[in-house]
Amino acid sequence: MLISSQILLKKAQQEHYAVGAFNTSDLEITKGIVSASEEMNSPIILQTSEGEIVHSGKDIFFNAMKIFAEKSKTPINLNLDHGKSFEMCKWAVDIGYNSVMIDGSKLSLDENIKLTKQVVDYAHERSVVVEGEIGLVPTPDKGEEVKILKADPNECKKFVEETGLDFLAVGIGNVHGENKGKPILDFERLSEICKVVSIPLVLHGGSGISDLDIKKAISMGICKINVNTELRQAFVKSLRESLEDEDVIKPYDIMEPVEDVIKKVVEKKIEIFGSKNKI
Ligand code: G3H
Ligand code: ZN
Repeated sequence: MLISSQILLKKAQQEHYAVGAFNTSDLEITKGIVSASEEMNSPIILQTSEGEIVHSGKDIFFNAMKIFAEKSKTPINLNLDHGKSFEMCKWAVDIGYNSVMIDGSKLSLDENIKLTKQVVDYAHERSVVVEGEIGLVPTPDKGEEVKILKADPNECKKFVEETGLDFLAVGIGNVHGENKGKPILDFERLSEICKVVSIPLVLHGGSGISDLDIKKAISMGICKINVNTELRQAFVKSLRESLEDEDVIKPYDIMEPVEDVIKKVVEKKIEIFGSKNKI
């Protein structure tokens, strides 16, 4: 069933687990994520970045995701991930996402506050919740040096107070994508942020972080963890294997195994995040 992430994350915050937010851009990935949620009896957040939803056909793919969420036995929230502009977030609110992320993390603090507040005002009037970001979670290219900009606790406090947003994504050494090396999370920084911010906190770049660090971050206050790269890697590996057999030409024979591998990755994450049986 379709549900607001406000309900999902408040429960996660009270009971000290995290809800996984998994990116999708096609039907097989979506089916894999949703069936993992049902198998594990776990709430999840199904999300698309701007690039993903534009590629998949905007309204058409959004409505497909919505049907999957509505038909699911488990609670599912639909989230726009990394919205870059007010216009994109407005589109997402208007079409029916339950939550939107406005990512102003590359802007100055004042500009980030202004943009995030504009999205919060529009979304809240329509009962849609908003995630914003402080500190930069970089997405390095291959070979590029990773430049981390950690969230400043005072800026986090000011950002939350002045925007009225619902969830805060924090940069604490976490990195997006494949070229992240072994991210070193700054738990001291996370603890300082937790002292001054009481809304649910979000960890981006959830792929490739050790299980131990994930569990520690959750025990300290992280309630939502975004995962994309590990799903993409599993997708591509499965596809390459299917394509090795040149006699396999039916698209559904090629694509069906993808669903299974995605399901396995998501189930493993649900286990680590502690959201199994938390519906
Ligand atoms: O917003 C999406 C994520 O932060 C995913 O990060 O690709 O490193 O798992 P990841
Ligand atoms: Zn992210």
